Amino acid sequence: MTREQIRSQLELYRDLGVRFIYKRSPAVAPAQFEHKHGSVSVAADFAVLPSLAPDRDTLAKIRADIGDCRRCRLCAARQTVVFGSGNEQSKLVFVGEGPGAEEDEQGLPFVGRAGQLLTQMIDNTAAREGIPIRRADVYICNVVKCRPPDNRTPLPDEMEICGQFLVRQLMAIQPKAICVLGSTAMKALLNVKEGITKSRGKWHKWHGIPVMVTYHPSYLLRQYNQVAKREAWEDLRTLLHFVYD
Ligand code: URA
Repeated sequence: MTREQIRSQLELYRDLGVRFIYKRSPAVAPAQFEHKHGSVSVAADFAVLPSLAPDRDTLAKIRADIGDCRRCRLCAARQTVVFGSGNEQSKLVFVGEGPGAEEDEQGLPFVGRAGQLLTQMIDNTAAREGIPIRRADVYICNVVKCRPPDNRTPLPDEMEICGQFLVRQLMAIQPKAICVLGSTAMKALLNVKEGITKSRGKWHKWHGIPVMVTYHPSYLLRQYNQVAKREAWEDLRTLLHFVYD
């Protein structure tokens, strides 16, 4: 394993919620790998790291593991856990921030105003570009599965606790590409320093899977965002051609 591969694997462990790894060998004292300030320290002699996501993980298993989740404070005010919806074998996954009021009521992601815009964007762009897919053909989920009170941005610990399930969803689906909607999902999956206006429209990588960053549909709903709207449509066009051509 190269140093880069080890780093990537350790980052995956971190995303899955692992904090410490001990390597035991008869010749060497156990080496401890610690999480430090959000990054994981790496030892050079590490040879093979085991996979941590359960073998043959499925969305049904992940949903069952979430259960009637009480792992963070978001459980207090939510009505439903909004796990995700769409085609489990999809080549494309969209990741938003967290459920809003409508989503919390219906138990489905992106069904409110922002969701209707997202549906239109997917359906209309695909139709215009001659790509035979509709919203139901992709998979859609969020960083956090429970509605944050007053639609506030999820807090870092909420994103970290729930992030392990997002990681498992993405690993189980293994899409050809991921579309990150807005800066919360971008921060959850990518280690980018730039803001959304600079990082949108470009390809990034999440554990080897190409990631397109674009604006969140709620942002596009604001009246003055005509330029951003055009840019988001362009991002989607690039994404759909990459995945389905
Ligand atoms: N905004 C999101 O980020 N996700 C939803 O499911 C709905 C609105």
